[in-house]
Amino acid sequence: IAGRAAARDLAGLRVAVSAGGTREHLDPVRFLGNSSSGLMGWALARAAALRGAAVTLVAANVSLPAPADLDLIPVTSTADLAAAMTTAAQEADIVVMAAAPADYTPASASDTKLKKTGDAGLELDLVQTTDVLASLVRGRTDPRQVLVGFAAETPTPDHGLLELGRAKLARKGCDLLVLNEVGRDKVFGRSTSEIVIISAETARPPLAGSKDELAHRIWDEARAVRAAKVE
Ligand code: CTP
Ligand code: CA
Repeated sequence: IAGRAAARDLAGLRVAVSAGGTREHLDPVRFLGNSSSGLMGWALARAAALRGAAVTLVAANVSLPAPADLDLIPVTSTADLAAAMTTAAQEADIVVMAAAPADYTPASASDTKLKKTGDAGLELDLVQTTDVLASLVRGRTDPRQVLVGFAAETPTPDHGLLELGRAKLARKGCDLLVLNEVGRDKVFGRSTSEIVIISAETARPPLAGSKDELAHRIWDEARAVRAAKVE
């Protein structure tokens, strides 16, 4: 890893990485969110900076120390993330969506703290958020730009990890999709992971390792896709 990092083989490239999990506020103090730690996005941003890329890191609610030598943009909601990534992507040669955006947001948020009324339950009216990755793919103006998505899936006996990944890759239209299997005891908040990187044509063998190691493998693949598009 150290040898590769020293290679600075991403020098001259501008990359945008999203990390963390978005929050959709119901009122000033409550939100719908998820347990993404931001570790994978952090590892990706650090690895790219080490390899010489100019990095923009759009971070949704990540409580990790800010990495050095990059442009950190904090965001809260999926709408904020969409806006920041759309701007960052305009300049980026490679875009990696490692964040876990909330898929739904309250149809309306209260400016004041919600109060309980009697002993009644509460129904939430939710609407879908923007699919940031799909909209970046649709809005791509430079065909040489490489777009990378992530997908955490829970395979079932009927639908395996690769099958779920292939369907998602086709739906999103991105160049690469980084798949990982999730269950209650897997991945979130841990420093190691197991991934499969797929494109429309290929599936790489599964990779296991620290998130730092996996980040370097992901950049290797993204760089190869970029080289193929540029040549
Ligand atoms: N993603 C995004 N915008 C969203 C939701 C997801 O850009 N509103 C991105 C994620 O950052 C990830 C990829 O899309 O790179 C796949 O996310 P995932 O949650 O697996 O896909 P969804 O399309 O939301 O499908 P579902 O949650 O129903 O499986
Ligand atoms: Ca989702």
